[in-house]
Amino acid sequence: MAEADPMTQSPVLDALINRASMPPRLLNDKVPPRADIDKMLAAAMSAPDHGAVHPWRFHVIEGEARNRLGDLFAEVLLDNDPFAPTAAIEKAKARPLRAPVIITVCAKVDPSRAPKIPVVEQVVTAAAAMEHLVIAAQAMGYGAIILTGPNAHAGKVRAAFGLDREDELLGFVYIGCADEPAPPKERPDARDYTNDWTG
Ligand SMILES: Cc1cc2nc3c(=O)[nH]c(=O)nc-3n(C[C@H](O)[C@H](O)[C@H](O)COP(=O)(O)O)c2cc1C
Repeated sequence: MAEADPMTQSPVLDALINRASMPPRLLNDKVPPRADIDKMLAAAMSAPDHGAVHPWRFHVIEGEARNRLGDLFAEVLLDNDPFAPTAAIEKAKARPLRAPVIITVCAKVDPSRAPKIPVVEQVVTAAAAMEHLVIAAQAMGYGAIILTGPNAHAGKVRAAFGLDREDELLGFVYIGCADEPAPPKERPDARDYTNDWTG
């Protein structure tokens, strides 16, 4: 038998190339065990991190706490539109109930580390950690998707997650189990976004 080519036989490469987000509507009620969530978070810890700032923050939201997040989303809606119809308010409240676990991922930056480690680099690090988390969840057989929307940037939501001026709420990662695989996606051709730069 021919020797396996490590460049084409890597399960990590497979997981990366075939990664796909799971639409929340396909998630069922089965709750991932906390040990699995902890493993996903451990995977996030190896994100590249200039200066070991550790700017990532994760807030795990399960069970009843999802209702409190929904209440916050409804408050944001009403702040922006005091006459929002009841159906819209109920929809906002129910948003976090679409997954058994949501992990809010934030970049809690340390501006005093700039200019050596600019704030943007710290945000990039936290975003990389969020992607590690998502890839780990999907590699473990869970469905996951990053969602934001206006809630992610609303003052009340930022305050609820302890964010200051230059901090960012990067995403709500919805995680759960699905009875079917994530819908496959057509991916762009990397060559369309790549050139050999020669100066
Ligand atoms: C920071 C960030 C925020 C996102 N917010 C939303 C969102 O609010 N709504 C949405 O439908 N998709 C959002 N997405 C995109 C989805 O997470 C997902 O990437 C998209 O559905 C495409 O699926 P794919 O990941 O399988 O390519 C966001 C992605 C990122 C990176």
